[in-house]
Amino acid sequence: MKIFLDSANLTEIKEAMSWGAIDGVTTNPTLVAKEGKEFFPLLKEICEVVNGPVSMETVSRDAAGMVEEGRSFAKLHPHIVVKCPLTKEGLKATRQLAGEKIRVNVTLCFSAPQALLAAKAGAYFVSPFVGRLDDISSDGMALIRDIKTIYANYPFSTQILVASVRHPLHVVEAAKAGADIATMPFAVLESLVKHPLTDAGLERFLKDWEKLPAEAKAWKNVPSR
Ligand code: G3P
Repeated sequence: MKIFLDSANLTEIKEAMSWGAIDGVTTNPTLVAKEGKEFFPLLKEICEVVNGPVSMETVSRDAAGMVEEGRSFAKLHPHIVVKCPLTKEGLKATRQLAGEKIRVNVTLCFSAPQALLAAKAGAYFVSPFVGRLDDISSDGMALIRDIKTIYANYPFSTQILVASVRHPLHVVEAAKAGADIATMPFAVLESLVKHPLTDAGLERFLKDWEKLPAEAKAWKNVPSR
């Protein structure tokens, strides 16, 4: 499963890239607004830093506006994937942009029939929001399993991008369900690294190493081949 960072923060993106941890980035208007920076230069810089797809969301409500915005985003950088919402207008825009070979991430997906329509419209990614479904006592991961089953029955090429990921278990469950990608905030990505036994184990190894006399561990004594 690929891992994307759900962030428009360049410091976080550069840090995650330096771990070799991420394959792409997703953003949305909320995340971009949080940065308080000029929009297009920020988006371009993210695309230059990330060696993979970078999703950016259209903000029009009608298909014509989404298509116009999508074309402008796509001109900015080859890494761009245009996000369109799962509405009738969003599906129309997806169909048009996909026909122009512009990749579309159909976002705000909350049901299996919605995901079916996204695939039929030619979506490159579909983004089901698992956390927001869990928030209203629906089973977000059950939706991922349903979409996976439905897509496997037909020759769709749409990739399942699990979004609204809130904790490491969502990531594990998404991978077990066979999702193509999970996108997550930096805090969730960081929490994938951490384990108390790793920290305790490292402390013990380094303390034991300290016990060796200085001469026994001097790097200058490393024999050459
Ligand atoms: O990728 C969509 C994501 O940003 C939404 O996450 O936590 O606001 O539901 P959340």
